[in-house]
Amino acid sequence: MSEATETERSALPLVAEGLTKRFRQGTSTVEALKGASLAVGPGEFLAVMGASGSGKSTLLHLMAGLAPPDEGSVTIRGTDLSALSDRALTLFRRRNIGLVFQAFNLIPALTAEENITLPVVADGRDDSEVADRLESLLARLGIAGRRRHRPDALSGGEQQRVAIARALIADPAVVLADEPTGSLDSATGQEICRLLQELCNEQRRTIVVVTHEPTVAAWAGRVAVVKDGRILSEFATSGFRDSHALAAHYQDIVSVSAAAEGVAS
Ligand SMILES: Nc1ncnc2c1ncn2[C@@H]1O[C@H](COP(=O)(O)OP(=O)(O)OP(=O)(O)O)[C@@H](O)[C@H]1O
Ligand SMILES: [Mg+2]
Repeated sequence: MSEATETERSALPLVAEGLTKRFRQGTSTVEALKGASLAVGPGEFLAVMGASGSGKSTLLHLMAGLAPPDEGSVTIRGTDLSALSDRALTLFRRRNIGLVFQAFNLIPALTAEENITLPVVADGRDDSEVADRLESLLARLGIAGRRRHRPDALSGGEQQRVAIARALIADPAVVLADEPTGSLDSATGQEICRLLQELCNEQRRTIVVVTHEPTVAAWAGRVAVVKDGRILSEFATSGFRDSHALAAHYQDIVSVSAAAEGVAS
């Protein structure tokens, strides 16, 4: 979306520009991101692919406002996260960003529906609109029968559905998911991917999924490849007939870049 004008970009659900993030480890510094930029459109399902340690989770954390970048900016629906105070950022995140993690991150002592409504209850919103949205999410995600169960009485797939419902309860502009299928068997993982794709299409949700699995990335409309803290390439998934073809293309991109580095050094 690099050709979009400044006005068009400010209306996008999510724009990350020139993100750099360094972590100090003793006397050395790890540069986890080195000027990564991404723009995600309304109703777009983007997969961020890359090897372990390439910077995917760091990118997702910065886009979610969970940590500040050392350089660059994150803009969600026209709001630059760096312009917000801590308190304003917390409120903004609750209302505009839904998060889904590999380990589900549900609270063990709460029932499924208490887990789902936690973000809006914390925000002081306990109105009929929330109650209606809870009912429709429980039904849409196929977990209405499990609403009074605690996480330990739910399967992995059910727990992730609860986590997805929790991510959607505030009707956020963007949903960010870090390896959402990483703790699930492959059939359940594919069901979760199908669900994310359907939510994206039905509700025009903007979804970014971080993954190293081509079978997950194949559900997205577009793939951004991260390597060594940089966005190496972006491509549409429509040109690939299946996840094997997509995996082959991904490997090509990564190996061409490795060969180019070999020539350069
Ligand atoms: N809090 C931290 N402190 C120090 N180094 C960190 C921290 N978080 C990430 N890193 C380093 O930054 C780099 C990128 O890490 P990141 O977790 O973003 O990778 P990833 O692509 O998500 O990997 P994986 O697929 O294994 O989850 C790695 O070298 C990692 O060790
Ligand atoms: Mg990670």
